[in-house]
Amino acid sequence: MTHMQVLPASDPESIRFAAEIIRVGGLVAFPTETVYGLGANALNPDAVARIFEVKQRPSFDPLIVHIATRASLGLLVQVISLGDHRLMDAFWPGPLTVVLPKRESVPDIVTAGLPTIAIRMPAHPVAQALIREAGVPIAAPSANPFGYVSPTCAQHVFDGLGDRVDLILDGGPCPIGVESTIVSMGGAWPELLRPGSITLAEIQEVIGSIMQASASLAVIAPGQLPRHYATRTPVTILAVQGARPILHGHERAGLLAMLTPGHVDERFSAIEVLSASGDLREAGRNLFAALRRLDALNLDRLFAEPCDEQGLGLAVMDRLRRCAVSID
Ligand code: TXA
Ligand code: MG
Repeated sequence: MTHMQVLPASDPESIRFAAEIIRVGGLVAFPTETVYGLGANALNPDAVARIFEVKQRPSFDPLIVHIATRASLGLLVQVISLGDHRLMDAFWPGPLTVVLPKRESVPDIVTAGLPTIAIRMPAHPVAQALIREAGVPIAAPSANPFGYVSPTCAQHVFDGLGDRVDLILDGGPCPIGVESTIVSMGGAWPELLRPGSITLAEIQEVIGSIMQASASLAVIAPGQLPRHYATRTPVTILAVQGARPILHGHERAGLLAMLTPGHVDERFSAIEVLSASGDLREAGRNLFAALRRLDALNLDRLFAEPCDEQGLGLAVMDRLRRCAVSID
């Protein structure tokens, strides 16, 4: 492969080039409506192995396979139930990943040896065009080094992976900014494995009751691993919005605020506001970029305001908590 390139996703020539890279076993970072993905041909185990290498991702952490049409499901899964169809009718294309029993022909490395496969049909036009043009399903985790905050623009991908990918398709900032909702349909009961912008209530409306993944269960979605989506700077979640934390000694601290603070607390070296008006969608869109900007300042600690765990707020708090778990 030649040197890494960053190309504008708006140019059809870039999409054709990217698709060719996928077909010959290379890696392409591409935008989706949630976060940028690091894609490879899902049916080529060597190409998929490179994803794990480049991300330094443990081999027990399975990937999501991205498709453009439901016709591709036949290649990947054994059976599709009525409930599965209902979910797909309601939310595809879009930020929903469905976990289903996989077909033998799917390489084991994609699913980390699990009998199930996670599948998503992204709505982003660049992701759609790339998958169609490549003509193969694309396995893609978020395009960041394992454990770090997911990328929501091309620069984030470059900052984390640099020239270890063959091509970055720059499609601008991701409109949602939080990873897809993951629902397992492969077990006895539907189960929410990862909250996202498609909310629990929206899913319940379509398939009725659904279990929420419990921390006591064996970890099958490393999105459920405690320290994931983490900044280098330790994060502490405040008890309420506007709380005044205790700062120790000469500790240099940053604040991740949900709304514009009522008064400016001069003790903070930096403040990032997720949404001046308190709009959760805007907050979700800004979350990872704001965390990355604060992390880049090399402060001693970051404080994050909580939000209500309703709707998209469940996903925002989920990501903040994973960021806030300390490792020692
Ligand atoms: O929004 C998204 O889902 C983005 C974009 C690129 O599509 N992708 C993403 O991928 O967030 P990743 O690898 O960062 O997270 C995928 C999650 C992991 O936590 C993984 O464990 C879980 O999906 N997963 C994949 N296959 C699974 C399976 N068979 N059973 C349970 N969980 C699975
Ligand atoms: Mg990830």
